[in-house]
Amino acid sequence: MVGRPPVKSRYRDYAAPRLYEIAFDTNRKLEVDFLVHCFKRYARIRVRRALDIACGTGPHLIRLADRGYAMSGLDLSSENIAFLRERLAAHGHHGELIVGDMTDFRLERPVDAAICMQDSQGHLLTNEQLLAHLRAVARAVRRGGLYVFDRYMASSWTNPARSWSWFKRRGRLVVRASFSALNEVNPVSQIFRERMTLEAIDNGTRRLYRQSHLSRMVFPQELRALVELAGGFEFVQWFFGFKPHQLLERSRRPLIMVVVLRRT
Ligand SMILES: C[S@@+](CC[C@H](N)C(=O)[O-])C[C@H]1O[C@@H](n2cnc3c(N)ncnc32)[C@H](O)[C@@H]1O
Repeated sequence: MVGRPPVKSRYRDYAAPRLYEIAFDTNRKLEVDFLVHCFKRYARIRVRRALDIACGTGPHLIRLADRGYAMSGLDLSSENIAFLRERLAAHGHHGELIVGDMTDFRLERPVDAAICMQDSQGHLLTNEQLLAHLRAVARAVRRGGLYVFDRYMASSWTNPARSWSWFKRRGRLVVRASFSALNEVNPVSQIFRERMTLEAIDNGTRRLYRQSHLSRMVFPQELRALVELAGGFEFVQWFFGFKPHQLLERSRRPLIMVVVLRRT
């Protein structure tokens, strides 16, 4: 896989992979069950090789590798990729992992499916970036293969911000996490702020990691128009959750949309 690490030395978000991996070890099995369902139900080719775009610490990538898929991963954070490389090896798998930008990458060998999870596409702050991204993914996926991703949605304009706090324990390490999205939404650019705090308490010592970054939402019809404009994919289906019956049209206040595209 050939990727370009454009701002490697300056990119400091997602620099606490171990804490992130523990804190966000949440709904992942259900999500991966759903991804596998989509691969089997909607792809016109047999999915064996898959690419996790903005793979982070690899919650989906590792689980898909455990289920026999040949996995590759791409992420802008060198910390995440280094962490995932060790994790993947510990699970007895190989995989191509690269530090790269999801708007500008090329694979040496195409894949049968790509995924991009946890609203990672939100990091693309303009339509131009999203178009460049869709075209890069189209180059990477074989005809008949799939691209599956999830995106946050604003279900209200009056108070769109949402926040969550929770904690997770791994051995003696406790990670207290808080995350908020859809803060300070700009209704024209559709850009908002996300904030994340991870507090690690390990044998009496306390470490705090804070991150605040911009993200962007897109609306369903806008997304479909952008997919058409980018070319290379047809729209297949969308959902408001990770269960096959949760079709987006059946939700009045969706918090996320999960989109399935097929490479034409
Ligand atoms: C919300 S995290 C999700 C990580 C993982 N997919 C998950 O489900 O836990 C977003 C990820 O996107 C990565 N990222 C941000 N901008 C990116 C870009 N332009 N290209 C590739 N990865 C990017 C970050 O480094 C981070 O790992």
